[in-house]
Amino acid sequence: MRMVDGERLDVLISRDAIAARVREMGECITNDYRDKELILVGILKGSFIFMADLCRSVDLLAEIDFMAVSSYGMSTKSSGVVRIVKDLDNSVEGKHVLVVEDIVDTGLTLNYIYGHVKSRGATSVKICTLLDKVSRREITVPVHYKGFEIPDAFVVGYGLDVKERYRNVKDVCRVVED
Ligand code: IMP
Repeated sequence: MRMVDGERLDVLISRDAIAARVREMGECITNDYRDKELILVGILKGSFIFMADLCRSVDLLAEIDFMAVSSYGMSTKSSGVVRIVKDLDNSVEGKHVLVVEDIVDTGLTLNYIYGHVKSRGATSVKICTLLDKVSRREITVPVHYKGFEIPDAFVVGYGLDVKERYRNVKDVCRVVED
């Protein structure tokens, strides 16, 4: 792939490791939500690839919905201000919601989303994230399903971006300045 001048991508988690872990997470979710009405709610845009793979590993009659929030803008630092850009299409009342996120960093975004979905009358709300930067947490959020814990580095690929670039990279990579 053509790179931005002065930038290099170092693979942190390979596509094979991601695929294996996503399959495991899907099996876990399938067992936990058997006989329940499940809605998977992906947080755009970062979760779009993870959601596409995860939902196909979940062997249940699940609904799929998406929300979009803006928290970072074009910066790499959290502003702490979360705004809903696209709300849920369908009612979650009386249903079990699993929020599907790409990465939990400070936790501010998910904390807001968790409260929002609960206030819509969901029977249960749980959180599933591919990546977790535990050391950066500023607010406690309950993470029920976690793919990988990663160090405090900015990562891209598998849906994650920096300034809208590199979402289509197959591995999760660190961005390194040459
Ligand atoms: P939080 O509110 O600080 O937890 O930020 C969560 C959101 O920030 C994620 O959904 C991502 O969109 C973005 N984010 C945090 N860390 C990274 C990263 O390393 N790469 C790309 N996006 C990130």
